[in-house]
Amino acid sequence: MARITASVYTSHIPAIGAALDLGKTQEAYWQPVFKGYEYSKAWMKDNKPDVIFLVYNDHATAFDLDFIPTFAIGTADAYAPADEGWGPRPVPVVQGHPVLAAHIAHSVIQQDFDLTIVNKMPVDHGLTVPLSLMCGQPPTSSFHWPCPVIPFAVNVVQYPVPSGQRCFALGQAIRRAIESFDEDLNVHIWGTGGMSHQLQGPRAGLINKAFDNAFLDQLIADPAAAARIPHIDYVREAGSEGIELVMWLIARGAMADVAGGAAPRVAHRFYHVPASNTAVGHLILENT
Ligand code: DHB
Ligand code: FE
Repeated sequence: MARITASVYTSHIPAIGAALDLGKTQEAYWQPVFKGYEYSKAWMKDNKPDVIFLVYNDHATAFDLDFIPTFAIGTADAYAPADEGWGPRPVPVVQGHPVLAAHIAHSVIQQDFDLTIVNKMPVDHGLTVPLSLMCGQPPTSSFHWPCPVIPFAVNVVQYPVPSGQRCFALGQAIRRAIESFDEDLNVHIWGTGGMSHQLQGPRAGLINKAFDNAFLDQLIADPAAAARIPHIDYVREAGSEGIELVMWLIARGAMADVAGGAAPRVAHRFYHVPASNTAVGHLILENT
C-alpha cells in the first residue's frame, strides 16, 4: 500500500525563486535563507519519495476571479511553470501522477470533501519555489524534479477561505485516501506558504516572530489546537497573507499521530527573517 512517510512545511516567497534563477544565492542577504535548506536538500536525497502531494496556493495564475475553487486537485500528466509576469521560471515541467491523483480525488470526495478536479493548471511560485528549495536547481538542462507531484491548490487569496479545522480534517481524509492506494509508494505531503506576511495596505511588511514560532511549536506538538485558530487570528497576528498557513494544517492532518499513531520526529526546523516581505518558516516531520 502507499504510505505517507514525512511531511514538509515551507514558505514559498517568489523572490527566493528569482534569487535562485538569477544566481544570487551567495549574496549576503540570501545566504542565511539558503543555508536553512542545506539540510533539507540532503534529506530529500536520503529520503527520496515516489510521489509528493504538494499543498499550495495559486496566486491568480491558473485561477482568477472568474473561477475560485476552494480545493483543487491536479489530475494531469504534467504541469507547466506559469508565466507570472516575467516569463515562466526556468525550471523543469512538473510531472503529475494521474492514477494516484484520481484515486485520491475519488476517495476524498467520497469522504464528503467537494474537490475540484483540474486537468490543466500552470503552477506558480506557490508550487515551484518549495520544489526548488527542497530539490535544488542545478544549472543543467538535464535536471528534472526527483519524482512526480500531485498539486493540490487551496484558495487562500479570495474570501471566503477554508478554516483551519476544515484543512486539518481534509488532511486526515487525504491520509486515508493515500493509504488505500494499492501500490507500494513512499509519499511525502507538503504544506506550503506562510509564515507571517502582509503585502499591502498600511500594515504591509508586518512580521510577527512570536506568533510564527508559537505556531511552529503548536503545529508540532498539538496540531488539533493549531487547527482551532480562527482565520481572523491569522490575519490579525500574521498579516493578510499569513492565512496561507492553513495549508500547513492539511499536511499536518495527514500525519500518523493524528490517526492514533506515534508522534512524528522533527527532522529539521528553520526560521529566518527577512526574505522579501515574508518570514521564512520550514519544518520536516517524519512518521516514525
Ligand atoms: C511574497 C510572498 C508571498 O507569499 C507571495 O505569494 C508573494 C510575495 C513576498 O514576500 O514578497
Ligand atoms: Fe503567497
